[in-house]
Amino acid sequence: MSNENNVFYWLPCSVVFVSTAHEDKKDIMTATAMFVSEKEPLLVISVAKNHLTERLITQSGKFTLVIAGAHQEKLAVQVGSAKGEDTDKFERFSISATTGSGSAALIPEGAAAWMECEVESSKEIQGYQLFMGRVVNQNDSGKPPLVWHKDGFFKLASV
Ligand SMILES: Cc1cc2nc3c(=O)[nH]c(=O)nc-3n(C[C@H](O)[C@H](O)[C@H](O)COP(=O)(O)O)c2cc1C
Repeated sequence: MSNENNVFYWLPCSVVFVSTAHEDKKDIMTATAMFVSEKEPLLVISVAKNHLTERLITQSGKFTLVIAGAHQEKLAVQVGSAKGEDTDKFERFSISATTGSGSAALIPEGAAAWMECEVESSKEIQGYQLFMGRVVNQNDSGKPPLVWHKDGFFKLASV
């Protein structure tokens, strides 16, 4: 199947950061997420196995999904290409960040929104760990989000 025929290639979605913390370790990586239910506030992320993000979620049972702001394209490339195992990304990229309300996971300044999630269930699929998260705390900064479409970054525009 070519990229052009692949719905997952062109399906627009929010760029997100998966921020994690457990004991003395913390990490952040770029990802996309699927929001599966509103009444029951559930979403799913897919995280490559044996990365620090996957380990910290498995150990802590939680993660914070940060919706990237429209001006965070550079940060999305930075934390989406460096491995937390090798480097503290918050120090390396001088990321100014605060915590949310119920987790030590850090939220970079400039984010559009964040959602603290507890892992509801988990399943391994071909080298990736799928985590279904239940949103337990959230906040909307009012900033517009960054969008991922056909391997590129976009902003929202009204029609
Ligand atoms: C736009 C974008 C989306 C990404 N989506 C995912 C994803 O959904 N799952 C994943 O495992 N990695 C994804 N990545 C790659 C990770 O961010 C990258 O492997 C990161 O270095 C992992 O960090 P860690 O090793 O500190 O856990 C994405 C990268 C970019 C730039």
